[in-house]
Amino acid sequence: MTAESDAPAIVVLGSINMDLVTTTGRRPAPGETVLGTGFAMVPGGKGANQAVAARRAGGEVRFLGAIGTDVFAAELRRTLTDAAVSTDRLRTVAGPSGVATIVVDGDGENSIIVVGGANARMTALTENDLAAIAAADILLCQLEIPVDTVAAAAHHARANDTTVVLNPSPARHLPAELWADVDVAVVNSGEAERLGADLDPVAHLVVTRGAAGADYRGPAGARLSRPSPQVDVVDTTGAGDAFTGALAAAWHRGPEWALTWACAAGALATTRLGASSSIPTREEITAALAAE
Ligand code: RIB
Repeated sequence: MTAESDAPAIVVLGSINMDLVTTTGRRPAPGETVLGTGFAMVPGGKGANQAVAARRAGGEVRFLGAIGTDVFAAELRRTLTDAAVSTDRLRTVAGPSGVATIVVDGDGENSIIVVGGANARMTALTENDLAAIAAADILLCQLEIPVDTVAAAAHHARANDTTVVLNPSPARHLPAELWADVDVAVVNSGEAERLGADLDPVAHLVVTRGAAGADYRGPAGARLSRPSPQVDVVDTTGAGDAFTGALAAAWHRGPEWALTWACAAGALATTRLGASSSIPTREEITAALAAE
């Protein structure tokens, strides 16, 4: 915890992308062309979105990642600094930044293709990165940077009593040694199915179910379910990131509160277009819960 308050110190290790978002009535079938209804460039990336979400939900957040030297880099950095996320561990590497091509249909559902760019160059952690992880309450990671780097960070966190929260997205099979260092896993229902028994050793498993809310399975068979506040959905992009960042920021208050807090954050994020731009503040989350 930081000295001034009970805000948890969170290091987010992950990706930062420029999202190129096209809206359309329906997504095209293979080989088909459809007319779109709009286009926007919105800063995103699972790592950056979760960093902004954790900050807005009440954490003290440091982002550990990489941007390139292209036209997107300055705006990507500004997204973090504007949100009061610390960027002292953000590096710049020569070449393109990460980019995500996103299509959002009339139901607010999306399809995403990510090209890693600078994120793929996050292949090593410096002494200062490791010191930041060791000093944090929580390390929060996803899988849009090289898995070996995530594994090294998680191992260092575990050795220094820093709680490891992993959102294994995009989902893939991971080494057992990495799962052994994870305290909390956050997956959507599709990822839970894909990862199956890989998730068994994780002490705290959170499964998001979209509009149906989220489920929790803890040590010794503890189980919880929380509904999601009902909202008018505009765009589901980044809703999982809003949920995960908020969960990390509230984890020190216990799984029950964290799940309730995160469900509200995830639901609110679907009411606006874009990823980082749709993430709710602590005040908005509090108001949504008070209105229930
Ligand atoms: O989770 C949503 C994010 O996935 C987008 O912001 C996009 O950049 C991809 O990383």
